[in-house]
Amino acid sequence: MMDWTDRHCRYFHRLLSPHALLYTEMVTTGALLHGNVSRHLAFHSDEHPVALQLGGSEPEAMARCAELAERWGYDEVNINVGCPSDRVQSGAFGACLMAEPDTVASCVAAMKSAVSIPVTVKTRIGIDDMDDYQNLFDFTAKVIAANCDNLTVHARKAWLKGLSPKENRDIPPLMYDKVYQLKRDYPELEVCINGGITDSASVSEHLRHTDGVMIGRAAYQNPWWLVELEQNLFDELHRPTQHEVVEGMLEYIEAELLAGGQLKHITRHMLGLFQAVPGAKQWRRHLSENAHLPGAGPELLRAAAAKVSPEPVSW
Ligand SMILES: Cc1cc2nc3c(=O)[nH]c(=O)nc-3n(C[C@H](O)[C@H](O)[C@H](O)COP(=O)(O)O)c2cc1C
Repeated sequence: MMDWTDRHCRYFHRLLSPHALLYTEMVTTGALLHGNVSRHLAFHSDEHPVALQLGGSEPEAMARCAELAERWGYDEVNINVGCPSDRVQSGAFGACLMAEPDTVASCVAAMKSAVSIPVTVKTRIGIDDMDDYQNLFDFTAKVIAANCDNLTVHARKAWLKGLSPKENRDIPPLMYDKVYQLKRDYPELEVCINGGITDSASVSEHLRHTDGVMIGRAAYQNPWWLVELEQNLFDELHRPTQHEVVEGMLEYIEAELLAGGQLKHITRHMLGLFQAVPGAKQWRRHLSENAHLPGAGPELLRAAAAKVSPEPVSW
């Protein structure tokens, strides 16, 4: 998620969920091929498994960026066919590519022949008036023919004109049944579902119909939920306390600050860690008011965490 799932956020989320597949923000082919590659691609080895999401529509450029992803150690490379922003539309990629399944298939095919890591696509159930199930079905047939390894579907359409990206994440109704139908129609394709999933019971229900669940905003806003999911789905013995997670960030923070990073760029992702725990407000306030000050370092997190009840939350 742009501006949210940067490498600091991913390092933090990895402490909460050892098994989840984490995604980068979308990086455009232009930014990678003509910009500062290490700024966009560098990540900490503890983040694995991590997927690089690309924005682009030129098969050759996408293949070269997929090679970069593989070379930098990413576990997967994903094509964004879901973002409706004007900036992305003017670059002719993102959600508008749902109207050009052949282009997406050419990108997948070019990337598959360039790398051996999985090449995956994230899309919506439709765009504008192209929102019948048949469109999604045909789109999927083309990406499967190009050997796409996984399709993740945000279960709402996008309106390319008239709604902002934020509105396009809330206003078009969620239609999970279309994603379930897609999995029934293409049982050999790994299909993950995304959109509006905010509790563990819903995750279990979606997993009865699909191969995986992608969680966006709820994981960012209530990161502690990731621990509950990790326990339910992968490792019931994964039981850190929030305070241990704070401690787990300190060494990373120290190294980042020594390398010239700023504390506030890391702590901003951690504000929701103690959600619903007595003292959570003081934790957030202490970080927000102090993390930007010159000289602020790891001890600030300890001081902020000391304002919160030491009891672990019970589910
Ligand atoms: C701030 C923000 C940035 C996002 N950036 C991306 C992005 O770069 N690539 C992408 O595929 N989806 C992006 N999304 C969409 C989410 O991945 C997800 O599809 C959407 O929020 C619906 O899932 P959710 O209800 O679990 O959040 C973004 C969402 C938000 C809130």
